[in-house]
Amino acid sequence: MKIKINHELCKDWLNEKDIKNLIPKMTAAHEALHQHNGLGSEYTGWLSLPENHDKMELMRINDCATEIRKKCEVFLVIGIGGSYLGAKTAIDLLESDGIIGAPIVLFIGNTLSATKIKQVLAFIQNKEVIVNVISKSGKTLEPALAFRFIYGFLLEKYGKKEAMKHIVITTDKEKGLLKPFALENNIPTFEVPDDVGGRFSVLTAVGLLPMAVAGINIQDIMDGALEGMNEYAVNDISENNCYRYAALRYLMYKKLQKKIELFAYYEPNLGSFAEWLKQLFGESEGKQLQGLFPASVCNTTDLHSLGQYVQNGERILFETTLWIDKPMNNLKVPTIPDDYDKLNYLTGKDVSWINRMAMQGTVEAHYAGGIPGISLNIEEISAFGIGKMFYFFEKACGIGGYLLEINPFDQPGVEDYKSNMLNLLKR
Ligand code: PA5
Repeated sequence: MKIKINHELCKDWLNEKDIKNLIPKMTAAHEALHQHNGLGSEYTGWLSLPENHDKMELMRINDCATEIRKKCEVFLVIGIGGSYLGAKTAIDLLESDGIIGAPIVLFIGNTLSATKIKQVLAFIQNKEVIVNVISKSGKTLEPALAFRFIYGFLLEKYGKKEAMKHIVITTDKEKGLLKPFALENNIPTFEVPDDVGGRFSVLTAVGLLPMAVAGINIQDIMDGALEGMNEYAVNDISENNCYRYAALRYLMYKKLQKKIELFAYYEPNLGSFAEWLKQLFGESEGKQLQGLFPASVCNTTDLHSLGQYVQNGERILFETTLWIDKPMNNLKVPTIPDDYDKLNYLTGKDVSWINRMAMQGTVEAHYAGGIPGISLNIEEISAFGIGKMFYFFEKACGIGGYLLEINPFDQPGVEDYKSNMLNLLKR
């Protein structure tokens, strides 16, 4: 599975010399990451997860998922940020392939919305439910609050002893409040490794258990990630597309002074992936008054709204187009006898081809209008491909953070809102 990079659309602004000049800096970033001696190196365990993950744990995840699939109609995943976005990405992407069977997987605990909690409670009222509470710290308010409601529901529906059989916990091996709760009640748990931070945890039980419950082959996910790990290990910007992408977005920021990386995608199923990317890059790079602001548009929908801004608005952004080469689905345009809409010229054409022409027309218009672009062509969407995509962007983000000379693996800014909120709540 290939992820190709095309930077024809930034050639007027960036050239090979700019990329070559970055080689010493790239080498320093590569070495710091691979030798685990850069900023935040205690959280770089994700780098070798595709190879070094606990194989027994993977089997345990699969076994647990098989049991869950037999027992429930609704699988509730409670988590926020890195504790849900990776699994949601894979599930949303593969859903269109018809791979996903029962149970229905629902995500909750990623907002403080009473409406959302009420809707979910109403939906699960007469259904068999199993819940996976995912929180590395075990003390994040949003999932904790959602679980409080779901826990109450389980107690009422099943009684205490039986309710415990409807809970699976994914958390830190000792920190936080979930672990003692699980131990006390004999609840099955999966651990988030110490050296893997939330937004880099998709290839641990955090992402893999919900994926397996949804029917995704998690061995394929890991195999794809392993292909990525091997392919993107070489420190050579001309060979390594991941490093080339990291170099280009760094140059967009530093040389062209762009402030926003706009991810543009043309399949709505990529929406959760865009959210995962925004969390990954935004939380990793937005530090010390630096960093690209990651944003996204779902085209062609957003060409009828934000497209105007991109074409004619302030020159503060560059565009990264995420394109899937092999269409996820296809339909041929039907003919209609009276041709009332004058679209018979498209009869027999693939809708995915029309989508492709829209993408091509858009990136060319943006380029002509002065918007530099990068295209990332993803060969196909499959569990294997998704595993590789996760690894590609995690690595680009780790390298990108080191190019900026910041710690990409902490999130001190997130703590500020939390402590303010808690002060207000306790006052
Ligand atoms: O990347 C991160 O560390 C964060 O976005 C976390 O994933 C998020 O805050 C959820 O944290 P926790 O899993 O501890 O509940």
